[in-house]
Amino acid sequence: MNTIIGIDLGTSTTEAAIVQDGKPVMIVNLENEIITPSAVGIDAGGNSIAGEKARAQYLLSPENTAIEVKRKIGTKEKITLGKQSFSPVELSARLLEYVKTYASEYLKEEITHAVISVPAYFNDIQRRETIEAGTKAGLQVERILNEPTAAALSYGLDHMEEESHILVYDLGGGTFDVTLLEMFDGVLEVKASSGDNQLGGKDFDEKLMEWLNTQFQKKHHVDLKKDTFAMVKLKEEAERCKKELSTNNSYHVLVPMIIEKKGEPLALDETVTKEQFEEITQEIIERTHHPIDVVLADSEILPSEIDHVILVGGSTRMPLVAKDIKEYLNIDPVQALNPDYAVAEGAAIQAGIIQGAFEQESSIIITDVNPYTLGVRVTDGFMDNRMDVVIPRNVTIPATRSETYSTYADFQTKASIEVYQGESMIVDSNHFLGEFTIQDIPAKRAGIEKIRVEFSYNLNGMLHVTASIPSTGADASIVINMMQETKTKEDVSQWKQSPYAKQFRTVIRRAERMLKSPGTKSFPTFTEALEDNLYLLKKAIMEEDLETAREAEEELLNILDD
Ligand SMILES: Nc1ncnc2c1ncn2[C@@H]1O[C@H](COP(=O)(O)OP(=O)(O)OP(=O)(O)O)[C@@H](O)[C@H]1O
Ligand SMILES: [Mg+2]
Repeated sequence: MNTIIGIDLGTSTTEAAIVQDGKPVMIVNLENEIITPSAVGIDAGGNSIAGEKARAQYLLSPENTAIEVKRKIGTKEKITLGKQSFSPVELSARLLEYVKTYASEYLKEEITHAVISVPAYFNDIQRRETIEAGTKAGLQVERILNEPTAAALSYGLDHMEEESHILVYDLGGGTFDVTLLEMFDGVLEVKASSGDNQLGGKDFDEKLMEWLNTQFQKKHHVDLKKDTFAMVKLKEEAERCKKELSTNNSYHVLVPMIIEKKGEPLALDETVTKEQFEEITQEIIERTHHPIDVVLADSEILPSEIDHVILVGGSTRMPLVAKDIKEYLNIDPVQALNPDYAVAEGAAIQAGIIQGAFEQESSIIITDVNPYTLGVRVTDGFMDNRMDVVIPRNVTIPATRSETYSTYADFQTKASIEVYQGESMIVDSNHFLGEFTIQDIPAKRAGIEKIRVEFSYNLNGMLHVTASIPSTGADASIVINMMQETKTKEDVSQWKQSPYAKQFRTVIRRAERMLKSPGTKSFPTFTEALEDNLYLLKKAIMEEDLETAREAEEELLNILDD
């Protein structure tokens, strides 16, 4: 089997790792660095660039460079580089292509498989798009793993004998994630996850930029916001200042020629003390409290029961973070892990687990949860926008739950199933995930016919939804799942034309018969595995890739024998 690498695709930086001899090892990029800036761009010659090269270019030609693309993933926003416009998926793919290139170079092997971590609080669409970016980059995404779970895996590997409650606090460049885990006997159980995917180091930079700009305006009556270059320099300098203040008590911000006023260059010249910085960013750090409260409440654990707070993410280097945790939870956090590597290491460990790279006795078992409430829109005569919960948040995954509803109108023959994610009782305040219609409901008086809706949430944090009519057995479903979507895009119906078709015909027929049999539907995980492998097999046959076809066949036979 091909080596699977673990990738921490961060807002500011990206890292990759692999497991060797039972331990995670960080992979260095083409410039011999472990940490790769999450920047992509187009250089003067029109070539695509990524990593440090792109970050350096950002200072000189921001219009040809993109940073912090992860913040836009899952949105329809376009990013322009030069004259071209790109989706966040396309630009993330370029970054992943670079990771694929340097990992292949480093490992002297063509890397084609990866486990990619995402913030636990990423929604379904953001997860889908991350997989899509991997696929575009030529990486088959074996698993999407929650970042704090990854960090906990990295911690767990070295502390397997411990019995404890661990709070993973991950404050990165763009996202904040908090997760509570329980560890015992080598089992790492995620109790609850929460966070804010619009909170990170970037917000501290912006706050400081605003403050510096205000000081500048007071002195010079010029707004730096009017000038892109001035803003790029201001951002660079604000971030440097923030980082310096993690180890020093004050920092002198000096940009000699930041902007011109009536042809005269003006300097940004301001000293910022640690106290000033902490005062202006206090309100940002306080935004971490709500997610912490949610996690404690959902896992029914008191702050006094937490044994360790583990810090992950570059922004936890700010002394303000430890101070705030101490004040809020009365616990001194530990710096047990390298905050820059922990997530990539954990992703590599997950990849190792998938590949069977660990000895039985040193293997970690990990269970995760879904951080969002999932449900459907229901109409009950009074309200037509009520969210009815099917899977509550922080339930251990994989999870399958169902709810049964009744028809609301006389002689109603179809029903539309709208799927939402979020914590509000009103669907319109939640996040719409998708919808489909179930037809052929027998025409009866309102309330007679039932509609059963089943949600099945898989290990990648993605959702399959099925609706069925118990009285007739009719059903319909959607898969809010990228792997599934990519699948339907490619037509494999021509597999029979391949010279290899004959030798796999029997197993394909067996699998198809199984899929059609009425009992199968009640086992969604089974159905899913069957469909996935059937597709892979047909695709491999069509592509005349005998090796992959044999692998898929073996998988199918295993599933069928189960
Ligand atoms: N010494 C430091 N003091 C303060 N902040 C720092 C320091 N070093 C790095 N940072 C900040 O850490 C952030 C990057 O952290 P990290 O690389 O963990 O984020 P990421 O993984 O890219 O983002 P995310 O996990 O949110 O997607 C940046 O905002 C950076 O300014
Ligand atoms: Mg991160």
